[in-house]
Amino acid sequence: MTGVSAQRILLVIGGGIAAYKALELIRRLRERSYVVRAVMTAAARHFVTPLSVTSLTGTKVYDDLFAVSDEATMGHIELSRDADLLVVAPATADLLAKMARGHADDLASTLLLATDKKILVAPAMNVRMWLASPTQRNVATLREDGVLFVGPEDGDMACGEHGPGRMSEPAAILGAIEAALRGETRIPLPQHLAPGRRLAGRRVVVTSGPTHEPIDPVRYIGNRSSGKQGHAIALAAAEAGAEVVLVSGPVALQDPAGVSTIRVETAQEMLAAVEAALPADAFVSVAAVADWRPAAPAPEKLKKGRGTAPALTLVETPDILAKVAARPSGRPALVVGFAAETENLLDHARSKLARKGCDMIIANDVGAAGSVMGLDANEVTLLTPGSAETWPRMSKSEVAHRLVERLADMLDRLDHER
Ligand SMILES: Cc1cc2nc3c(=O)[nH]c(=O)nc-3n(C[C@H](O)[C@H](O)[C@H](O)COP(=O)(O)O)c2cc1C
Repeated sequence: MTGVSAQRILLVIGGGIAAYKALELIRRLRERSYVVRAVMTAAARHFVTPLSVTSLTGTKVYDDLFAVSDEATMGHIELSRDADLLVVAPATADLLAKMARGHADDLASTLLLATDKKILVAPAMNVRMWLASPTQRNVATLREDGVLFVGPEDGDMACGEHGPGRMSEPAAILGAIEAALRGETRIPLPQHLAPGRRLAGRRVVVTSGPTHEPIDPVRYIGNRSSGKQGHAIALAAAEAGAEVVLVSGPVALQDPAGVSTIRVETAQEMLAAVEAALPADAFVSVAAVADWRPAAPAPEKLKKGRGTAPALTLVETPDILAKVAARPSGRPALVVGFAAETENLLDHARSKLARKGCDMIIANDVGAAGSVMGLDANEVTLLTPGSAETWPRMSKSEVAHRLVERLADMLDRLDHER
């Protein structure tokens, strides 16, 4: 047991899907001998029952600002002052807004305003709610007021979207509680909130997903690219403050929040959309563009049963990466490509770097042993004309955030050299 015995946590449970995780948090706190009092907002009662909460805390659940009996036993001011730390989990967009503006129209918001103790919040909401300007303004205000944050994390959300907004896991919140009780005020920021939106004022064009090259109106040549890595890079660049245009082939993903997404089918359409989106400071070509397309797609569905299979004549598709890198005017300062290879990864990637005239190639092994297509993790090597750097296996989202940091470094360096 590492928790400090008999320290008191006042837990405010807001009305979000993640409220169920507050139960696990209470269980973990109690295991470590913390005294936990819980306050539920009216909305929270739609997600978890006061009975579950009280069973875990072993004390009454508080939810009514005007309960005379509560005021007689433990008044609302005393309730907040009696605690060593106030924790809001899940912290809804609504609660963050109320806290930032000093509202006190229910027990939870009144306690949060009346306290002289540290407050730690664990935000939980849909990615668009989290990235919305009002929420980000409220978060900035609360940080300035000294409120501590744990999360939110990147990930798949209950609403089917992907991105930052998911509440940190109870174990991480517990870690942050213990850090806050030790007086630490530097609970690490999630990377997407790192200070200095390093791509602010920059324009970035990203391609993602496969292309589909029609054989006839119902069949096509395609590949297994899911678009997860490209979409994660577009989102990370937008979170770093860039104006982002994402040109995406056919994928089963939501358009990332805060990004202008243009959907295309074929390599030719992708090239046209990329050219229309330029000029830009950086072009990141993540899409797995088909190398060949049928020379003459059939206007009607090809029929079977004629004795022989139809012969497909293929022609090369435009090389989008090479064309952008070779633009005589309006070439982005940084042109970055991805090389998905199944053999001799680094040799092929290095020759691609030279052949295509780009500034960096990110090589990933998509062969059987290191398969990444469609998965959430990736293992990449960054190649520039003078360097090679292999990153350990990590989530595609983390690759994206790290890569965005790297792009920001490279663009800053280019600015200084000018
Ligand atoms: C099914 C459902 C799920 C919701 N999930 C969230 C959520 O995860 N985060 C959030 O900020 N709001 C969420 N909301 C909206 C809040 O419940 C609503 O803003 C409420 O007023 C919040 O009240 P509170 O902050 O006082 O608890 C959800 C609403 C519904 C109907």
